[in-house]
Amino acid sequence: MTFAKLCVFLTVCLAASDVLGGTVPINDGKYILETRVTLAGVLTVKVTAETTGWVGWGLSPNGSMILSDLVIGGFDASKGSYIGDRFSAVPGPPQLDAVQNVQLVSASENATHTVLEFTRAVDTGDMTEDIKVENAVQFIVWAVGPTDEIEYHGPETRGTIELNLMDG
Ligand code: HEM
Repeated sequence: MTFAKLCVFLTVCLAASDVLGGTVPINDGKYILETRVTLAGVLTVKVTAETTGWVGWGLSPNGSMILSDLVIGGFDASKGSYIGDRFSAVPGPPQLDAVQNVQLVSASENATHTVLEFTRAVDTGDMTEDIKVENAVQFIVWAVGPTDEIEYHGPETRGTIELNLMDG
């Protein structure tokens, strides 16, 4: 193997080991959560959900949506791609954070599904309205809405799982 080829090989190996994450099918695969965390401290979340409405994902202190650090995004024919970093003080429409700490990678939909991908820092530095990603099992909340109006998700299309996002 030439020196150049060895360098490429080592770079690929190191890049692969720099990333932790996995895929979790939720709600019978109607909400597929893919995550990865780099050693540089960037979390990427990709959700493929059976809806043409909004897609929600969040970190919760206790499994409830109350006091959760939420992200709602999606694709709407008139609005295009949209995303918002939100916080939920009550069980109701989560308000937009004063500081937006999520970056939209892409949002798209077909006749049945929406794919939403975004990134954020593991530690955004927002102590008031964000929750830090830890190397520990945390409560992840999920929900989808039937339309792109940010309104109640209904009793079936929301839930909580427990996951270590840094367990690769
Ligand atoms: C307009 C947006 C939203 C409204 C109006 C809303 C409203 C509510 C209400 C009234 C409940 C209690 C009734 C029930 O259990 O279904 C609830 C529960 C719940 N919601 Fe939401 N929600 C919204 C967005 C979200 C988002 C974005 C997520 C997650 C990403 C979420 C996750 C949950 C979860 C896990 C529960 C069950 C646990 C709990 O009662 O806190 N919700 N929501």
